[in-house]
Amino acid sequence: MLTNTFPQDFIFGGATAAYQVEGETRSYGKGKVAWDDYLAEQGRFSPEPACDFYHRYDSDLALCEQFGMNGIRVSIAWSRIFPEGSGEPNPEGVAFYHNLFASCRAHGVEPFVTLHHFDSPLAIYANGDFLNRANIDAFEAYARFCFKEYADDVRHWFTFNEIAAATMNRYVEGTWPLGKKVSLHECLQAQHNMMVAHARAVCAFKDGGYAGEIGIVHALEYKYPYDPESPADIEAARNDDVLQNRLLLDATFRGDYAPGTRAIIDHLCASSQGTFEIAEHDLEIMRRAAMLNDCLGINYYQSRFLKAYEGESDLHHNGTGDKGTGRWRVAGVGERAVRPGVPTTDWDWIIYPKGLFDLMMDITLRYPNYKKFYITENGMGRKDRIENGVIDDTERIDYVKDHLRWILRAIEIGINVEGYFMWSLQDQFSWTNGYSKRYGFFYVDFESQQRIPKASAYWFKRVSETRRLEV
Ligand code: NOJ
Repeated sequence: MLTNTFPQDFIFGGATAAYQVEGETRSYGKGKVAWDDYLAEQGRFSPEPACDFYHRYDSDLALCEQFGMNGIRVSIAWSRIFPEGSGEPNPEGVAFYHNLFASCRAHGVEPFVTLHHFDSPLAIYANGDFLNRANIDAFEAYARFCFKEYADDVRHWFTFNEIAAATMNRYVEGTWPLGKKVSLHECLQAQHNMMVAHARAVCAFKDGGYAGEIGIVHALEYKYPYDPESPADIEAARNDDVLQNRLLLDATFRGDYAPGTRAIIDHLCASSQGTFEIAEHDLEIMRRAAMLNDCLGINYYQSRFLKAYEGESDLHHNGTGDKGTGRWRVAGVGERAVRPGVPTTDWDWIIYPKGLFDLMMDITLRYPNYKKFYITENGMGRKDRIENGVIDDTERIDYVKDHLRWILRAIEIGINVEGYFMWSLQDQFSWTNGYSKRYGFFYVDFESQQRIPKASAYWFKRVSETRRLEV
């Protein structure tokens, strides 16, 4: 009989990220990040005050407790700790996170902490970010500082959030600062360099003998050929798999690139007139970290169907939430298409819960040294509205339920999944959509900062308190 019960210690939580929730982006000694000027120049929306988490974390954590959550994903803003990326720490920033973690403990909500969630300090970003290898050293020093400073507060660490999104939005799609388009070799090189930074942090954590666990969060999408019988579509799916998943997964679990992965990396780099460089000793440290790494955080929203594409790159980012207006065709990779009959969200994101199961199976089979998964993000962006004081987000409940079902199927066959964090805890600032795309369990009125639980919050409370998914 199929189970609908989650393991005893399963973590049920909501996810956040510093820049998307905290507000106070230029105060209390915080240094600038590239987003500050980029958003100000565009003038479309401001990251201030987001959901004012800087001042309201305690009441938000009280909501987590009240709604049966035993975990929360938060990130530390590097530029709150080191305003210039390195140098002297900012005491107000350091104290803020001690207070946040103390509040987590007081409410019985376990913090899962990410060191880098798309917010390199401006000094680092402007200086080449992770394409500049000196910044790998800066990240390692920041990580070492956090491990030592918060050793008594934090038991679950993630180094980076979504290296794929950070690099693809910047170097392929050009929708993030600095808005540069299609440079596959810079995208892949930045991915490699960030994985070296990850490996250095993992080794520092383990060598420091700290209690707890450390891993990384990847944004994974299963890449299916649009036509499973077409060799050209199969090749396009493999290209997109390397660009989004495979380089990062090989680096995480093998500490090296499998020959098939390396061949596609070289093909992608060549198609954008560039090369891929691995420095001396990179693989040594990556291989060591691959054995020490404790867990993988999976952010899963959608999967993709790939068609072969021979033309020039042609990208149109669908930031408006109008169905059917997005386009993603990249020379050397392929074209992302929607299979007829597959449902999509208001923002054209393909809803395909089985892809999460397929991904976990794939990782388990390819990388026998994987130890455990957390689903660190999964959720649905909607145009939620309050009607008669109620927010009916049944669509979101169905979305989450379908993904939780596949997680149960994975657990049942022995895949180790220990937690689920919905993105997001409360409605928050979205990088390219500002405040129109709502993801939270809690509706936020951004004027009054009032929180209103949506139907999904009440539903999730039942699931987490009973650890059962009613079918
Ligand atoms: C992934 C990212 O980690 C988060 O920052 C983002 O807002 C959500 N996905 C939704 O796109």
